[in-house]
Amino acid sequence: MPIVRIGNILEGKHTDKQVTVRGWVYRKRESKDMTFILMRDATGVIQCTIKKDTAAWKDAERVTIESSATLSGLVKEDKRAPDGYEITCNKLTISGLAETFPISKDKSEDFLRDVRHLWLRSRRMNLVMRVRDETLWSIHELFRKKGFIEVSPPMFISSAVEGGSTLFGLKYFDQNLYLTQSAQLYLEALIYSLEKVYCVAPSFRAEKSRTIRHLTEYWHVEPEQAFADIDDMMRLEEDLVSYVCQKVAKKCRKELDELKVNADKLASIKPPFPRVTYTETLDKLHKKDFKLRWGEDLGFNEERALAEEYDKPVFVYAYPKQIKAFYCKTYRDNPDLAMSADLLVHGIGEITTGGSRVDDKDELIQRMKEFGLRPEDYDWYVDLRKYGTVPHAGFGLGVERLLAWMLNLENVMDAIPFPRTIRRFYP
Ligand code: 4AD
Ligand code: MG
Repeated sequence: MPIVRIGNILEGKHTDKQVTVRGWVYRKRESKDMTFILMRDATGVIQCTIKKDTAAWKDAERVTIESSATLSGLVKEDKRAPDGYEITCNKLTISGLAETFPISKDKSEDFLRDVRHLWLRSRRMNLVMRVRDETLWSIHELFRKKGFIEVSPPMFISSAVEGGSTLFGLKYFDQNLYLTQSAQLYLEALIYSLEKVYCVAPSFRAEKSRTIRHLTEYWHVEPEQAFADIDDMMRLEEDLVSYVCQKVAKKCRKELDELKVNADKLASIKPPFPRVTYTETLDKLHKKDFKLRWGEDLGFNEERALAEEYDKPVFVYAYPKQIKAFYCKTYRDNPDLAMSADLLVHGIGEITTGGSRVDDKDELIQRMKEFGLRPEDYDWYVDLRKYGTVPHAGFGLGVERLLAWMLNLENVMDAIPFPRTIRRFYP
């Protein structure tokens, strides 16, 4: 008999039919002459009943939680079953009998992260990974629709993008190299050929801080565009974030319901997003008793406090240039301000940074010196300003931060299958 997927049974496609399903035992409950098994496959969980007088009884008694098995029987609609359907089972074949599964209900978040290789089987992780998949698909879809070309930047790099303090060094034969913090500089090279490019790739940060929003390895979505400026980027960002929210709300309705996320609220995220300058932000924060002085960077608490004022993500732009990176262009009429914007959301704060890049060679070299960088370490990057320089802009979006916001996750660690943090690199 062909194998059917549990998700299809739960959609009512096999009612009153004889089926075979395969997967893993999710829960098991026994009474004197009946065993209840919840079977799960990638698509769902279904209740199966095994009566004492059937051929399946012996194996039903023997089977343990998380054993893999194949099970055949008749599908019935049953209001009492957890998802409305049940299989009355007459055949059960165990493939891998599981030892006592270490995960039970009362385990701490920390323990569940220690056994992430097993916890990934949980309903919750299954659902989050499905939303992550839809999120990544929709990101690719939007860039395609807008004519961006996907490119593949290197992970080994020879000089910093985002400042030395979060660089991971490594031995590369007999040289010292780093793991990339951002593909930006390489994307900047590629726009001279392809004009509109993007990548979805890991970035690495030696973050000493243990917060709910920092990983040492995260997935980074980065577009870069020739003949574009900070306003074009803010429009692209709000289009991208809105598109992902709409798509996920539509395609992952079931997952969102089960994760207790309000799909309608996600679907209501639409452009335009509010925009406030750094200076206006400071005024707002002072009214909330924050003591930040002009020129100081916003931290997690400041960002969250501002984001709370809006029911959509909010842009903060025109930051003091000294708290933004060396490559940020400044406003012609106010050279103290960087043409750089962060997008802030509830609970997480910053999910993107982007803006206009310095496109003049001498200005770039000057900015590098101000930041204590050696221009000769960036020769190839300076070359881009020598040969047909153009105004250009781009941004970076952290996939796990986006997901943590959309799904109200407690920690970005729960948006990635195998999180890496200062303390955590196993499994
Ligand atoms: O703000 P960041 O450092 O900006 C850049 O790397 C730019 N070069 C991007 C660009 O313009 N192409 O990082 C961009 C985003 C952040 O807004 C955040 O969402 C995410 O990357 N991010 C992290 N996510 C998880 N853990 C970390 N340690 C992160 N650091 C940055
Ligand atoms: Mg940033």
